[in-house]
Amino acid sequence: MSVLVTGGTGYIGSHTVVELINKGEDVVILDNLSNSTIEVLDKIKQITGVLPKFYKVDLLDINSLEDIFTQNSIELVIHFAGLKSLTESIGIPLEYYNNNITGTLNLLKTMKKHNCKKIIFSSSASVYGLPKAVPITENFDLHTTNPYATTKLMIEQILNDLYISDNEFSICILRYFNPIGAHESGLIGEIPNGKPNNLLPYIVRVANGQYDCLNVFGNDYKTKDGTGVRDYIHVVDLAIGHIKAMDKVRNDIGVHIYNLGTGKGYSVLDVINTFEKVNNIKIKYKFVQRRPGDIGECYANANKAKEELNWEAKRDLEQMCKDSWNFILKSK
Ligand code: NAD
Ligand code: UFG
Repeated sequence: MSVLVTGGTGYIGSHTVVELINKGEDVVILDNLSNSTIEVLDKIKQITGVLPKFYKVDLLDINSLEDIFTQNSIELVIHFAGLKSLTESIGIPLEYYNNNITGTLNLLKTMKKHNCKKIIFSSSASVYGLPKAVPITENFDLHTTNPYATTKLMIEQILNDLYISDNEFSICILRYFNPIGAHESGLIGEIPNGKPNNLLPYIVRVANGQYDCLNVFGNDYKTKDGTGVRDYIHVVDLAIGHIKAMDKVRNDIGVHIYNLGTGKGYSVLDVINTFEKVNNIKIKYKFVQRRPGDIGECYANANKAKEELNWEAKRDLEQMCKDSWNFILKSK
């Protein structure tokens, strides 16, 4: 039996595939390569010694999906594939709804047809919208402020309804906070499409001279130094969270929801200072206006995952900053 990883050549997917192979799982990857490259497969082989089976397939193409389920015996699906830029989604909402929602519906229909009833889904802390307080627990109100987050919330609802209709399903919804860092080998990491929106991908490009200066979006938030606070989590810790979630879906039917974060909040200035210290590089920055739609503080209460999945993040901010930079150095 195999584990199907949709979006498995992407940033979080590729790190999870490495952990799955290290665990001895048989992995099949599906990706349309819209935001990743085929070379990732070779990097996975360099790290693990195993070249995973790969299908260049779009989730919107239900016939090709059907072929994958016919040709393989899929026990469980880890579903990463989706468009993920919050800002981009405001400009092209229909593409986001079509890709993320229709793609997921095609996947779920095909799974049900083939009696594959275990799924782990990549959700996001963005489903909490503007949280009423921090740290955020899983039972907080859900509301969204952009089409990307709305696709995540809708898929959560679809998964809940699916379970109500068929109690044999075992579903794990993982709400990620802010994944950064890269594999310690420096062979896989995050490669943004075009100019990065996120903090760490931008910092590393100021460090390597691609951009002159980092814009820090706002220094008047009600936080310790006025800059935005987030829960940054090392991508390898996040990947390991999926391995733990797999135990859960293999043993318990139902819908299980977990925050995956460290439970600690760091400001933009904390991240800049840590990056400068561990990599011995100066990052030029300036304060600019707040970014529209941003919130001041967002960090998880990660106790539920600790108690029920026996998982907690181990790698600290220094490691995250070191590994992010190492990946850029190795990619040159
Ligand atoms: P990524 O873009 O690196 O990986 C997603 C992969 O899915 C890409 O390789 C892309 O080519 C593929 N893909 C997209 N649409 C597809 C389709 N229709 N058919 C087949 N393949 C398709 O993104 P990531 O950072 O690895 O994120 C993985 C998941 O985690 C996404 O669902 C994302 O929304 C979610 N998430 C990411 C973050 C983050 O900050 N990175 C935070 C919260 C949630
Ligand atoms: N920031 C800057 N300058 C930049 C980029 C970011 O100051 O050039 C600041 C932001 O204002 C924020 C912090 O750095 O305070 C983190 O910003 P990111 O864009 O890296 O991350 P966000 O928390 O805004 O969003 C991310 C993902 C979303 C996801 C969300 C919650 O991009 O997809 O985390 O999981 F939904």
